Amino acid sequence: MKLKLAVLAGDGIGPEVVDQALKVVKAIEKKYNHEIEYSEGLVGACAIDATGNPYPDATHEVCMNSDVVLFGAIGDPRFDNDPSAKVRPEQGLLEMRRKLQLFANVRPTFTFPGLLHRSPLKEDRIEGSDFVFFRELTGGLYFGQPQGRSEKGDKAFDTCFYTKPEVERLAKLGFEAAMKRKKKLTVVDKANVLATGRLWREVAQDMAPQYPEVTVEYEFVDAVAMRLIQWPKDYDVLITTNMFGDILTDEASVITGSMGLMPSASVGVHTALFEPIHGSYPQAAGKNIANPVATILSAAMMFEHVGLLDEAAEIRKVVNESLVSGIVTEDVAEDGKAHSTSAVGDWIAGKIA
Ligand code: IPM
Ligand code: MN
Repeated sequence: MKLKLAVLAGDGIGPEVVDQALKVVKAIEKKYNHEIEYSEGLVGACAIDATGNPYPDATHEVCMNSDVVLFGAIGDPRFDNDPSAKVRPEQGLLEMRRKLQLFANVRPTFTFPGLLHRSPLKEDRIEGSDFVFFRELTGGLYFGQPQGRSEKGDKAFDTCFYTKPEVERLAKLGFEAAMKRKKKLTVVDKANVLATGRLWREVAQDMAPQYPEVTVEYEFVDAVAMRLIQWPKDYDVLITTNMFGDILTDEASVITGSMGLMPSASVGVHTALFEPIHGSYPQAAGKNIANPVATILSAAMMFEHVGLLDEAAEIRKVVNESLVSGIVTEDVAEDGKAHSTSAVGDWIAGKIA
C-alpha cells in the first residue's frame, strides 16, 4: 500500500517517542512491502518558536495532503505558568483538531499480561479490563463561545455548547463500536445539572432503537469517575463530552500500570491523527527515558485505521513480548532494570524486521 504519513513530533518527549514509533513503522513498511512517504510539520511550542504560530498553515497543508498523521505531544513549562501568554502551544493542538474536524477522540484502555501487577488497582479488578472512550473533541467547553474575561479582568467565563448533530455523529461512532465489541454503551453526562447533559441523553435515547442489540446505560460523570476504578470491567464503550473525556481518559489510562502505555486516535472529517495519551512530560525530555510504547501502539492504531490489520496485530504482539521480556523503560521497570527509550524502540523494531 502507498501511504502518505505526516509526522508531527511536537514538544517535550514527543520527538523521542515518535522516533521509536517511526523505527517500528519503517520495519513494518519494509517487511510488508508498503511504500510510505513521510512529511514533517511543526506544532506546539516548537512551532511558536519557529514561526510565532502554534499550528502554522504549512503544517495544516502537510496534514491535509497526508493519509494519516502521527503526532507526539505538545506543551512547554515556559507557557504553563504564564497566564498572560498571548499564544500557547495547546492552541496548536486545538486548532489542528478544529481545522481537521477531528470530532472523535478514541481512547482505549486494555491490560497487558506482563504488567497487571503494576496497576494501582488490585489485579482481580483490572484483569480483563477492556473498554474504549469516544470523547467528543471539537465542541463543548473547549470551543464554546463566549469564552474570555470581563473588561476589568475580574471575571472569566467559558461556555459549554453542543448541537444535536455534534452529539449524534459522536454517538454514532460509539454505537457502531459497541456493535463490534461487547454491545454495551455507557453515555457519560451530567444530565442532572447541565442542559448539555440532557441534550446528550436525549440524543442517545433517540438513537438507541436503531441499535437494538446494544445495551445502553446512562451514568453521571461523577459516578463514572468512581466506578471506573472500582469496577473497570463493567465498561465496554463510553461516549462523553470533550471536557469529561479529557479527565476520565487520563484516569483510565493509568489503571493499566503506566500512563506511557495507552494510544489514541482522533478521527473525523479530514486526515485522522494518532497520538499517545501521555502528553509532553517535559521533565523527561531529551533524557531518553520516556516510554515509547503508547506512541508505538498509536502507530498500530494508525495501520488498523487504513485497513492493515496484520501489521497492527504484529506491532501489538511484539509490544506484548517486550513487556513480558522486561525490555521496558523506567516507569514500568522492576528492580532498576530500566532500558532507554531508544533501546525499547530498537528492540521492538528489530523483532519486526
Ligand atoms: C489531551 C490534552 C489536551 C486536551 C491539551 C494538551 C490541550 O490534555 O489531548 O487530552 O486537553 O485535550
Ligand atoms: Mn488530556
